[in-house]
Amino acid sequence: MINGLKRLKGEVSISGAKNAAVAILPAAILSDGICIIENVPDILDISILKNILHEIGAKITRINETSIQIDASGINSYTATNKEIGQLRASYYLMGALLGRFKKAVVTFPGGCDFGVRPIDQHIKGFEALGAKVEIEHGKVIINASKLVGAPVYLDVVSVGATINIMLAAVKAEGVTTIENAAKEPHIVDLANFLNAMGADIKGAGTDVIKIKGKRELKGGHTYTIIPDQIEAGTFMIAAAATRGDVLIKNIIPKHMESLTAKLQEMRVKVDSYDDSIRVSCREKIQKVNIKTLPYPGFPTDLQPPITSLLCRAEGTSTITEGVWDNRFQYVDELKRMGAKIKVEGRMAVVEGPVNLSGAPIRALDLRAGAAMVIAGLMARGETAISNLEYIDRGYEKLDEKLRDLGANIKRVG
Ligand code: EPZ
Repeated sequence: MINGLKRLKGEVSISGAKNAAVAILPAAILSDGICIIENVPDILDISILKNILHEIGAKITRINETSIQIDASGINSYTATNKEIGQLRASYYLMGALLGRFKKAVVTFPGGCDFGVRPIDQHIKGFEALGAKVEIEHGKVIINASKLVGAPVYLDVVSVGATINIMLAAVKAEGVTTIENAAKEPHIVDLANFLNAMGADIKGAGTDVIKIKGKRELKGGHTYTIIPDQIEAGTFMIAAAATRGDVLIKNIIPKHMESLTAKLQEMRVKVDSYDDSIRVSCREKIQKVNIKTLPYPGFPTDLQPPITSLLCRAEGTSTITEGVWDNRFQYVDELKRMGAKIKVEGRMAVVEGPVNLSGAPIRALDLRAGAAMVIAGLMARGETAISNLEYIDRGYEKLDEKLRDLGANIKRVG
């Protein structure tokens, strides 16, 4: 329940990156040693993943609030098919990790947020290039290889998931794998750094060609700290602008925020970048902009819903074009209940502003759509009741608490 129109003020510390953590935890099973992972976000997706790893024999011990130890020596199963897996998109990383470890994997077909068709053909193409046979039967992906042999893979679309999955399998293949047209997101670099710390040989992560020399063994015994969450940081930057606030967003990598920083500045929001923090404040009227989402370093699709809420208060008509997913504007109907004037035409939304949003009962339709609803609630006059909070809890650590600490009138009810 949010009572809007409160300016956010103060400091907020950003948690570890969800989309790095969901790749790094499965990657830990590629060695049969122990590793310590720090800056793990406390979110539902990670709890589900920990349960799944525990079920296949990993021993996971909590060291403190943000660090865990994974002992992968007891992993004895290449089958991950429990009910929870279907809910989690990132469960597909178990395919690459189990294939790398056992040359076999049986994993429930991945679920996750619904924004159009979410194919895994590029993941499968990569596994097949390394010599695996892939079948889909009764809702499960069944992968078998007598041996994995490094190979060139050219991705037809820039896919974060396929790039990561191919890396996970290729680090244990014989010989060299080259991924061309690879995704360049910060979490891909983070995973490569984690795997290299285990003794893998990955070069070029963060560029569009990644070269992986396979290794027979990867070792445990190291401690690794996950990067800060680029999308959580972006969500707070947008929330600060949306409430005409003044917020210092700490524990981030400002370089990862450049596309958003540039857009906010174009909207006349004040953004000051420091070594590991960014201050966002807003005094002037927000100006209309045109945005197109693209793979990194372009404007992130995962910030498309939150910034659409903000654009409702911009002077003039803005457009936002979704360049990654087919159908990621379903949440717009919820914003319309609050008075937003948005027209969706295919992959483009035309947002007419400025509009004074008014509180209403609305639903979080997926994780980032949920963040957009929270931002709209913070901007709106009166009470906004958001349901389906489980989507938000999947990927944001204590979002309500962090916003309350910044002065928002937000509470969980029921
Ligand atoms: C990751 O999803 C993120 N999820 C998503 O974040 C994010 O929206 C997306 O990357 C894009 O940045 C995780 O990291 C767990 P893709 P992923 O493969 O890997 C097409 C969030 O809110 N494609 O990069 O599944 C696909 O249809 C989540 O945190 C194929 O055609 O995305 C899409 O149009 C939601 N074939 C495009 O590529 C394939 O085999 C990019 O998808 C794979 C993808």
